[in-house]
Amino acid sequence: MSLIKFLDIKTLGDERGHLIALENDKNIPFAIKRVYYLTDTQPGVPRGFHAHKELTQVAVCVSGRCLMKIDDGHTQEEVWLDVPDKAIVIEKMIWHEMHEFSSDCVLLVLASDFYDEQDYIRNYEVFVEQVKNA
Ligand code: TYD
Repeated sequence: MSLIKFLDIKTLGDERGHLIALENDKNIPFAIKRVYYLTDTQPGVPRGFHAHKELTQVAVCVSGRCLMKIDDGHTQEEVWLDVPDKAIVIEKMIWHEMHEFSSDCVLLVLASDFYDEQDYIRNYEVFVEQVKNA
């Protein structure tokens, strides 16, 4: 089974352009408590490199693209987020890294909880150890 879980997102709209709606507990599998977005990203500068103990997130590039690498401590997979209707779920205890940002990238992230630095695991060896002991 793939680690990469795509959301079922419909693109609405007409000749005026596209419209995508994201709703709590409907096409988003949790109640959204926080929204953040990355802009002015640099092509050679990856980000992320952490897992969350409890947080669930949804990530989608609403503009441009980046290469999302995810890892459950056993398996690694990667996926290009390169269209606005390709959103993935990043579950808790999934190591994730974002690479190869295009300069026009806007990466939108919806999160199930408020920002809490205590929820982060930022050391890969610690992450793998915690997966083993789970
Ligand atoms: P960081 O975790 O380094 O970003 P990335 O995962 O993209 O590499 O976050 C950058 C800074 O922003 C860091 O000081 C934490 C802070 N931050 C918040 O204050 N609130 C938030 O919701 C997020 C995601 C980060």
